[in-house]
Amino acid sequence: MLINHKNFRTIWLNEEYESVIQIIDQRHLPHRFIIEDLTHTNDVIIAIKDMHVRGAGLIGATAGFGMYLATIEASKSISFDDYLLQVSKAIKETRPTAVNLQWAVNRQLAEINKGHNSTEKISISKKTAIDIANEDAEYCKNIGKHGVKIIEEISKQKNGETVNILTHCNAGWLAFVDFGSATSPIYEAFEKGVKIHVWVDETRPRNQGANLTAWELLNHGVPHTIIADNTGGHLMQHGLVDIVITGADRVTREGDAANKIGTYLKALAARDNDIPFYIAMPSSTIDWNTRNGINEIPIEQRNPDEVKYMQGLYNGDIISVLVAPEKSNAANYGFDVTPSRLITGLITERGLCAPNEIGLLELYPEKNTHD
Ligand code: MRU
Repeated sequence: MLINHKNFRTIWLNEEYESVIQIIDQRHLPHRFIIEDLTHTNDVIIAIKDMHVRGAGLIGATAGFGMYLATIEASKSISFDDYLLQVSKAIKETRPTAVNLQWAVNRQLAEINKGHNSTEKISISKKTAIDIANEDAEYCKNIGKHGVKIIEEISKQKNGETVNILTHCNAGWLAFVDFGSATSPIYEAFEKGVKIHVWVDETRPRNQGANLTAWELLNHGVPHTIIADNTGGHLMQHGLVDIVITGADRVTREGDAANKIGTYLKALAARDNDIPFYIAMPSSTIDWNTRNGINEIPIEQRNPDEVKYMQGLYNGDIISVLVAPEKSNAANYGFDVTPSRLITGLITERGLCAPNEIGLLELYPEKNTHD
């Protein structure tokens, strides 16, 4: 997507040095645009854990590239297989909720296994990492093509008046390799000239909405307004929201969706106000092995300091300030689960479906067996 009129993805292989992965270090956005080189699997692990990269799709793509670096390192170690296993375990443990991480590592392990020697394994894992990234971008683009129909329909019902879309967190191109999930239909509608406006939840504690989604939309000229997290319900009661679209970090076989903390409350408010609530996600986010999201999806708990401190720009420097009594306890649950009964529909790369097993299996009939 565009940054200062130049096209960027969130992760790519350095053109000159093929063992260097490059990422946009998202910790500095929206104030600074910094590209970071990842040259070792330890860099990859830190980048995922400390959120230089974040968002389900991008975490998966980064894990895919991490596994490619792992094969290079493994070829220089005493035991290729032991090294690979050790790194894959460490990558999988970086963040628990987004299933794309496990999915990408497992896909890499299955592919690498097909190589007969370390040279072949390195080349296979490089190709697989690139495939994962390209597929992520392609799938997100398709999510836009399917999802835009919903926005166009609302626009028609409103006789071309502005469609107000509310989104939570960042499920934009920064959370994927390109285009985003929740934002892809938004970008598509904008390109088609549909009049839209986006309410951007700031998304405490890390402010992915205010920092990242707003920055993305601004770069593309999409009209938007940042709101405090608790504003959505009020806007809905006053007819100022036509549709809610968020992303997901994991969707169960029965359509429950884990997403950034606070999503569930938006779904409740949307239901109370009869407003359609959609989850947009590529199939890499579907966990076919889970059914009940509330009981089965692990919810990441992060450092409570993320709640007590806020980060921002002051006199040209990015600083962190304490916004709570230093000695108070804080809890930092990263995600919540929206039960499928509160979801109007799922927007995937293959089309729209009902948030349940029947709907998902209609789009993905090959999953009609228990793995
Ligand atoms: O903790 P983060 O920033 O990695 O959170 C993940 C997300 O970006 C959101 O939950 C998002 O809405 C999911 S879409 C990838």
